[in-house]
Amino acid sequence: MEKTEKKGTVKFFNGKQIPLEMHKVRIVQSLKLVPVERRLEAIREAGFNSFLLGTKDIFLDMLTDSGTNAMSDEQLSKMMVADDAYAGSQSFVRFEKSINEVFGKKLILPVHQGRAAENIISQTFVKKGSVIPMNYHFTTTLAHIQLNGGTVVELYTPEAMVVKSSHPFKGNIDIVRLEELIKSKGVENVPFIRMEASTNLIGGQPFSMKNFEDVRKIADKYKVIIVLDASLIGENAYFIKKREKEYEDKSIGFILKKMCELSDTVYFSGRKVSSSRGGAICTNNKDLYNKMKDLVPLYEGFLTYGGISIREIEAMAVGLYETLDEDVVGQSPSFINYAVNELDKLGIPVVMPGGALGCHIDAGQFLSHVPQSEYPAGALVAAFFIISGVRGMERGTLSSIRDENGNDILADIELLRLAFPRRVFTLSQTEYLIDRLNWLYYNRNLVGGLRFIEEPPVLRFFTGRLEPVSNWPEKLLKKFRADFGDSL
Ligand code: F0G
Repeated sequence: MEKTEKKGTVKFFNGKQIPLEMHKVRIVQSLKLVPVERRLEAIREAGFNSFLLGTKDIFLDMLTDSGTNAMSDEQLSKMMVADDAYAGSQSFVRFEKSINEVFGKKLILPVHQGRAAENIISQTFVKKGSVIPMNYHFTTTLAHIQLNGGTVVELYTPEAMVVKSSHPFKGNIDIVRLEELIKSKGVENVPFIRMEASTNLIGGQPFSMKNFEDVRKIADKYKVIIVLDASLIGENAYFIKKREKEYEDKSIGFILKKMCELSDTVYFSGRKVSSSRGGAICTNNKDLYNKMKDLVPLYEGFLTYGGISIREIEAMAVGLYETLDEDVVGQSPSFINYAVNELDKLGIPVVMPGGALGCHIDAGQFLSHVPQSEYPAGALVAAFFIISGVRGMERGTLSSIRDENGNDILADIELLRLAFPRRVFTLSQTEYLIDRLNWLYYNRNLVGGLRFIEEPPVLRFFTGRLEPVSNWPEKLLKKFRADFGDSL
C-alpha cells in the first residue's frame, strides 16, 4: 500500500509543540472587537441566543464550520469556469467523477445541504414504527426521522460520555447492543443503521475502522443497510490514521474509500466536508438510488444541480479531492488538540481527547452551580461572548427537545462548542480564546442561568429567545472592567 509522508509535524528547536499551518493566507477579511458594553447589548438584543447575533458584533465567529471553512485558490478558480445548465451540466459530471474517485460511489443525488439529504433518506426509508440505531444523533437527522414517524436509538459506548478520557474512538457504536436491538425490534422495523463520522454532538469524536467493520458484519448478518453521515468523514479518516495502528501508514484516500465501501449509502453536507456549499447522497446500489431519485426534482432541483448553484458544484468537486490531503483534514483537529491541551493544563473542563470540528467545553462542570433546567451551556455561550466577542454554539439541553408532558429532555452532556473552521483562525487568535476562557473560569461563579421567553416548537435553539434569571450579565461586565481596565 502507498506509504505517505508525515506532514505538518515539524519539530521545533525550542521543543514547543504547536500546530504548523501548511498554507498561506492570500485573501483576508478584517475583523473588529467591539467594546464589552456593546457585546452585552448585542447578546441581549439576540435574546441570549448566539444564532441571533449579527457578525458586525462578533470578533471570532466560532459558531460552526458549516459553510465557513476557508476555500482554496483551486476551488475559487474552478467556480469561474462552471458550466451553467439546468440539465446535463458538465460541472455535475466533474462532481460525479470526484465522488467516484474519492468515495468510490457511482450513483449520485445532489442536494442543497446535508439536512436535505436527511429529508430524502427519511422520507424514503422511515415510516411509523421504524427504529433507527445510530452511534449518536444529529439535531436535523433526529428531526427528520421523527417527522416521518421513526424513533432514534443511540447506542454509544460508555466512554462517549466520559468528558476527560484518553479513549481514541468515543464515536464507536456498541456492537452488542446493536445486535440486541435489531433482534428485539425485528429487522423489518430497522430500515437502516446510521453511523455518523466524527460524531458531532459528543464533541466531534470519531469511530474506528474496526468498529465500522463490526457494524458491517451485523448489517450483513441481518441484511440491514448502513447509511453513513459523511459530513465530517475527512477528520474521522485523519483520526483513524493517527489513532488506529493498522492504518498509520495508509493514505487518507485509502481510509476514506474503505469507510465508504463499508456503507451502502453515504450522504454529506458539502458545507462541511468539501468546504463549499451543497451536499449529496451517493450509493452503488441501483435499487436504493431509484427509491430516492424522484424526490430530488421534487424538493431540490433537477438531478444535475440539486438546488445549488453550478459554481458550488465545481467547488464541491475540488473540495472533495482536497479531503485526500492530510494537511487539509488535519488542520482543524491539530488546532483543536492544541487548544484542548492548553485548556486542560489550566484545569478547564474540556472534552478530551480533542476531536473534529471544535473545542468543546463541559458547561455542566464549568458552571456546576447552574441547574440543567437553566441551560448552563446556553449561559456559558452568552457569558463567553460578552467577555470575549467570540461566538460559540450551545450543544446541550437548549439544543434538545421537550417530552410529551412539556418537560425538557435533559442533554447527556452540556457543551459550549467553539468551532475551528478549516484554515480560518490563527494561533494568536487561539491564544486569545484560551486566555479569555481562563479568565471566565476564574470568574465562573458570577455566571447564572437562562430561561426561555419565546420557544419555537421545532429546533428551538435556532430562533428561540431567552433572558438571564438574574442580573448576572451586568455583574460579569463590571468584573471584566475592573480586571481589564479599558481593554476591549
Ligand atoms: N450531519 C452532521 C453530522 C452535521 O454536522 C450537519 C450540520 C448535518 C448533518 C446537516 O447538514 O447543515 O448542511 O444541513 N452541522 C452544522 C453544525 C450545522 O454546525 O454542526 P447541513
